[in-house]
Amino acid sequence: MSDNKEDKKQIRVWCDGCYDMVHFGHANSLRQAKALGGVLIVGVHTDEEISKHKGPPVFTQEERYKMVRAIKWVDQVVEGAPYVTTLETLDKYQCDFCVHGDDITVTADGIDTYHLVKEAGRYREVNRTAGVSTTDLVGRMLLLTREHFKGDKEYTVALEHSSNLGTDSTARSPYTGCSQFLPTTQKIIQFSSGLSPKPTDKVVYVAGAFDLFHVGHLDFLEAAHAHGDFLIVGLHTDLEVNRYKGSNYPIMNLHERVLSVLACKYVHEVVIGAPYSVTAELMDHFRVEVVCHGLTPIALDADGSDPYKVPKQRGCFKVLNSGNSMTTEDIVQRIIRHRLEFEERNTRKEKKEIAQMKSTQKEHIKQNGNCEYKAYSG
Ligand code: CTP
Ligand code: C5P
Repeated sequence: MSDNKEDKKQIRVWCDGCYDMVHFGHANSLRQAKALGGVLIVGVHTDEEISKHKGPPVFTQEERYKMVRAIKWVDQVVEGAPYVTTLETLDKYQCDFCVHGDDITVTADGIDTYHLVKEAGRYREVNRTAGVSTTDLVGRMLLLTREHFKGDKEYTVALEHSSNLGTDSTARSPYTGCSQFLPTTQKIIQFSSGLSPKPTDKVVYVAGAFDLFHVGHLDFLEAAHAHGDFLIVGLHTDLEVNRYKGSNYPIMNLHERVLSVLACKYVHEVVIGAPYSVTAELMDHFRVEVVCHGLTPIALDADGSDPYKVPKQRGCFKVLNSGNSMTTEDIVQRIIRHRLEFEERNTRKEKKEIAQMKSTQKEHIKQNGNCEYKAYSG
């Protein structure tokens, strides 16, 4: 095998998973996996396999394949990868080893999906990103339907909601009932391209909420990217998004949205907390030549003005058809429609994780005596 390979670039790394509602936790695991070799192949499970082992996915397999393909550290996607990772799969794609986060993944029968590759010594682990999971995001959306999140306190709750969800998890699994995500500058640096536009580059600017980063956003960014050489995405603050979206939006706070957008291969730079109206100052500073917006409605600024007034005056505003009608609200509606199924899925997943953790703890105590056991270090 390629353990003897001297050039790290030759090492082919395999990852697999559901990658449902792809978030920056998934992207961060792929980033770490890619750093262990030179080529990253990602296997994505079908809807049927996921429904059997975990419960129904929120996104279809086609949507999930597309989202993983757009993550900047991914070189190839293998559609319909088996739920239990086999040596045959690794060999078929000439992968040296398989990489997974340090959480527990089991089949419907409670079998570790990585037992074969672990036994063969072809398994490596990376740190799971604490504070974000598909399960947690589904939980946040289900909270949107609760009565006490409506009414006068809407705004306060939205902010509380966007930064604190998931912290009240006592007696929860450390994976699914995860704690709050702690954004650091290091994480932003790791996700960032670190590139500046070349003097000859045509700079394209788009702005928005990009909440629960989805395939509609992806298609839009691909189209915007095609209009120039360097794509800058301006992300509005949580307060601003809440002003024009209302209710308890955004579901993901600004820091989380920054990482989701930075993980996309079409994006070169992000403005964190961009002004709602695209100003002359902003355009001159970044040498923006084209400003784009999709077919979704454009909300006016707080003073009633058109946020694209300046780029329109300069003749560089373009409306793009992403060819995709998905919106963040659609995703929330999908979740609410299948509320019971998802609640059951979350409970089931957590129960399995807790049971698996307890049995690992018991095994550890049996082998090492009653010394301190560290169940989770993610
Ligand atoms: N992963 C991670 N950090 C997270 C969530 C997922 O590192 N916060 C990693 C997992 O460890 C795995 C990969 O992303 O290596 C794919 O995970 P997936 O199969 O989609 O399932 P889950 O781990 O269950 O993801 P989630 O909890 O978000 O449903
Ligand atoms: O709604 P949000 O602010 O997240 O949208 C960001 C940008 O993506 C907007 O320009 C919007 O029109 C575009 N978009 C799109 N197609 C979609 C969803 C969003 O073009 N399906």
